[in-house]
Order: sequence, then C-alpha cells, then structure tokens
Amino acid sequence: MSDAPELPKKEEEEEEEEEEEGEGTPEPEEQSDDSSGEEAAGDTEMDFLRNLFSSTLGLGSPDKVLDELTLDGVARYIKSGKCTNIICMVGAGISTSAGIPDFRSPGTGLYANLQKYNLPYPEAIFQIEYFKKHPEPFFALARELYPGQFKPTICHYFMKLLKDKGHLRRCYSQNIDTLERVAGLEGDDLIEAHGTFYTSHCVRCRMEFNLQWMKDKIFSDAIPRCDKCSSLVKPDIVFFGENLPARFFTSMKQDFPRCDLLIVMGTSLQVQPFAGLVGRVSNSCPRLLINMEKAGQAGPLLGLMGFGGGMDFESDKAYRDVAHISTCDDGCLALAELLGWKDELEELVKQEHARIDSRDEKEKASEKEAAAAETSSAAAAPERREEE
Ligand code: OAD
Repeated sequence: MSDAPELPKKEEEEEEEEEEEGEGTPEPEEQSDDSSGEEAAGDTEMDFLRNLFSSTLGLGSPDKVLDELTLDGVARYIKSGKCTNIICMVGAGISTSAGIPDFRSPGTGLYANLQKYNLPYPEAIFQIEYFKKHPEPFFALARELYPGQFKPTICHYFMKLLKDKGHLRRCYSQNIDTLERVAGLEGDDLIEAHGTFYTSHCVRCRMEFNLQWMKDKIFSDAIPRCDKCSSLVKPDIVFFGENLPARFFTSMKQDFPRCDLLIVMGTSLQVQPFAGLVGRVSNSCPRLLINMEKAGQAGPLLGLMGFGGGMDFESDKAYRDVAHISTCDDGCLALAELLGWKDELEELVKQEHARIDSRDEKEKASEKEAAAAETSSAAAAPERREEE
C-alpha cells in the first residue's frame, strides 16, 4: 500500500453516495450554497461523455481557451475578465515551505521518516483499523506536527488574494494543517477533503470534543479517551478506510462543471477520490499545475481509452494543461507578477506573518505570566498552611 493509488473505501463510498443521492437528491448542508446540484451533476456526466467522444472519435474538438500553454497564457486569461470561477486543488506541497513535511517526497516526505514508530508500513499511521488498535504513533506524530505551530506560505496567501479579487470559487485541500484557514480562507471558500483537526469525535459513541480539549490531551502525552464511554477519541481527519466529508461530494458536483480555471498545487495526485477531481472540469477548462514534479497525467492505457481526464502537458494534442515546475511559492509569485499583484502579495505575507508573530509572542507572555502566578501561589501555600 506504499504507493496506494487510492483510499479504497473512500471511492466505494463516493459511488454509494452518488447512488444514494439519486444524482442530486438535495443534501441540506449543500443547498444553502447552490441549489442547482442536480443540474450540475448532469453537466458532469455530459462532460464525461463529451470528453470520451472527443478523445476517442475525434468529435467535437474542445475550445482552446488559452492563447499559449504557459504561465503567461494563464495570466492573460485571468486578466481577460472571463475567469471568475477558479478552483484550487492543493496538497502537502503547499505547506512544505512552512516547515511541514509532505508525504511522498523521497527522503524528506513523512512516509520515509516514520521508522521510530515501528509501523508495519508507513501508511498504517493513517489507517483507521491500525489506529484503533495502536493509537500511540498517530498521537506522537500529531504532537510533532500540531496545527497552529506553523505560518501559511506565499502560496496560501496567493489563494487569499484570488478570493479577495473575486476569482476564487473554492479551494479543495487535502491538508489537515489548517493553514488555509489561518490565511483567511474560511467557510464556503474551503473544502477540507481529508478533514480537519478543529473537532474530534469518540470512535464509539460519536461524542464531540473541541480543539482545546484535543490539544490538551495531545500535549499531556495522554491518549485521548471519551469522557462518556472511555473509547478512543480521534480528530476529524479522514483516515484510510473512512469516508470523505459529505460536503466534498456535493460541492464537487456543483463546482467543477462551472470551473473556468483549475489550479493544482503541491500534490502528487496519487490519492483517490481527490485526484479524480482534475477530470471533473469541462473539457475546455484550462488546468495549471504548479508543482516540483509533473503529476496527474493520464496513464497510457486509460489515456488511450479516453478515460481518466488526466493532464496532458506535452503531447501533440495538448491544448489546455500547463505545468509550471517550481516550488508553489515561486510559481505563485511568478503568476502574481504577471497579474500585477506581486507587491500586494508580498505585502500581505509580510503583514500577516507579523500579525501571527505578535499574537504568538503575546500568547507566550501570558503563558509565562500564568506559570509565574502559579509558582508564586504554590510558594505562598506553605505559609498559609503554617498560619492555619
Ligand atoms: P504527496 O506527498 O503525495 O505529494 C506532494 C507533492 O508536492 C509532490 O509531488 C512533491 O513533489 C510536491 N512538492 C513538495 N514540496 C513542494 C513545494 N515546496 N512546491 C511545489 N511542490 C512541492 O502529498 P499529497 O498529494 O498531499 O492522506 O498526498 C495526498 C494524501 O496522501 C494526503 O492527504 C494524505 C496522504 O496519505 C491521508 O493521510 C488520508
């Protein structure tokens, strides 16, 4: 399972979800945001058929939206005013410059550095069945990588700028580090496809616990146990063998058919169903990958059959996919420069980082004060006892 192409149960569940929903049966959570889920799901099926016919039979050649398959071409398209629904799909590579390792980069990735936990195989640390029997490695890792100890990157703030300028439809993230939220993407802006640390639940009775409760347990080296039934409590991040949040499936059906530009950053696109999202945009929608390596290309067999919706950066038929091979931060800065936003982006990063630093300093100072107060009251206690 080390190169696990997918989270097996998640994909099954997606199909089940679609069947259960009867292609667009309203889900209350989603309808607040867009009431045309049914129509959008229909669009997606149509797009799939259109893709299939155009790539296998050469019918209905798709529109070429970009005048050039380069970052400049993408920037001109964004500036044209025809690009108001940008979707960002992101993974661990957008947070490595904040100091958080990704999963699969050789040498530095998390899966190459878990020897101390004596796991049967690296991904076991995020396997739900393994976790239920052996929760210790996960919580030790959670302490090391606890969200809140890192600052968002240039790439995170670039997405915030896309939002502020009215271009962002939504950010779909596989990350659980919460840095998108810290950068100012919230609520409707964000789908945390692999869950979040913000809430936690008892694996048996489903009682909910908040972030502070979980943080206290994690940092006190205690394995979190339910106050009600003493079973394990797990942060609401999606483990292998668990469902993705329902909101992922319903939003995806509404968003992707309407997408004007897909920007994929910092992900190897190896985990399903997330990776399959690149094939859900219309067949004319340009797709920009900003990553250290190419990802998401159609495998030869599926590509030949017209399945998969994989990226095509360099074949004779390439017409919409652009690969910008660089760090996410450099790629975002380069794009921001082409858009005339570079100074604004750099200023935003500077201001926000200064704000986070000063907040952290204040927190540390008040923690110190509290500790000092505790020490002095402990020192005063024996006197009181003597007086008594
Ligand atoms: P991966 O580690 O699989 O991929 C990270 C990608 O980002 C790789 O292609 C790297 O080359 C690239 N990369 C790393 N640093 C970069 C940088 N500074 N700039 C640009 N690119 C960079 O991480 P994900 O694709 O996010 O799921 O992994 C997907 C899922 O697999 C995770 O959500 C996690 C994992 O198992 C669960 O745990 C359920």
